[in-house]
Amino acid sequence: MLSLKDVRKSYREPNGDSLLILDIPQFELAAGEQVVLRGQSGCGKTTLLNCISGLTTVDAGSIVINGHDITQLHEMTRDRFRAQHIGFVFQTFNLLPAFSALENVLLGMTFTGQKPDPRRAARLLDEVGLSHRLDHKPTALSVGEQQRVAVARALANQPSLLLADEPTANIDPAHQQQVIDLLRAACEKQEVAMLLVTHAPEVADQFQLWTTLAS
Ligand SMILES: Nc1ncnc2c1ncn2[C@@H]1O[C@H](COP(=O)(O)OP(=O)(O)OP(=O)(O)O)[C@@H](O)[C@H]1O
Ligand SMILES: [Mg+2]
Repeated sequence: MLSLKDVRKSYREPNGDSLLILDIPQFELAAGEQVVLRGQSGCGKTTLLNCISGLTTVDAGSIVINGHDITQLHEMTRDRFRAQHIGFVFQTFNLLPAFSALENVLLGMTFTGQKPDPRRAARLLDEVGLSHRLDHKPTALSVGEQQRVAVARALANQPSLLLADEPTANIDPAHQQQVIDLLRAACEKQEVAMLLVTHAPEVADQFQLWTTLAS
């Protein structure tokens, strides 16, 4: 369902030089496959997820998701495609500060053009242990609670590909396991593929497939 070929991504350094971050000849993820992505800080894990989601453009190569090369889509089509196919748990959450936890999840639903479903949004928040915080805005939530809202939002549109960037980095062990179980259950129920970035051995050890990004 996901296929990368000869993907290259460089950033410009402050002095103007080009800094190669990603050089991936080939990477494949089948429907329903769950893979842990590891690699040291700064090696390009978040950059890779941003490229796969089309939030960042690549310099070269193709990224095919469900038969569509996301690198060839125009921005608006890409945004719609992302909303329909991809759930993204951002490392820095990216919640909208003016909106409550429930509204953040509901807003995630509007980007597909479908009618938002408040009952489903509330259920997802309940599944990450936040049924008592539906109306709280991000600034009134703890960091771990914000992260769990981000997880609920990523599942809002029943994506076929989940990109989870250290989704339990700020969460206590009990809720960490709840979040991992929820992500796995979503994957297993609907053949969702997942690329999960984590530094936590107790999380990574639960998955059979690992890939390490060289720096
Ligand atoms: N917009 C940017 N402009 C220039 N350099 C960038 C930009 N974004 C990221 N980088 C550089 O790219 C490298 C990879 O960053 P990235 O965020 O992908 O790392 P990471 O593997 O996710 O690290 P971490 O484990 O700390 O989250 C870093 O060295 C960073 O300095
Ligand atoms: Mg990162």
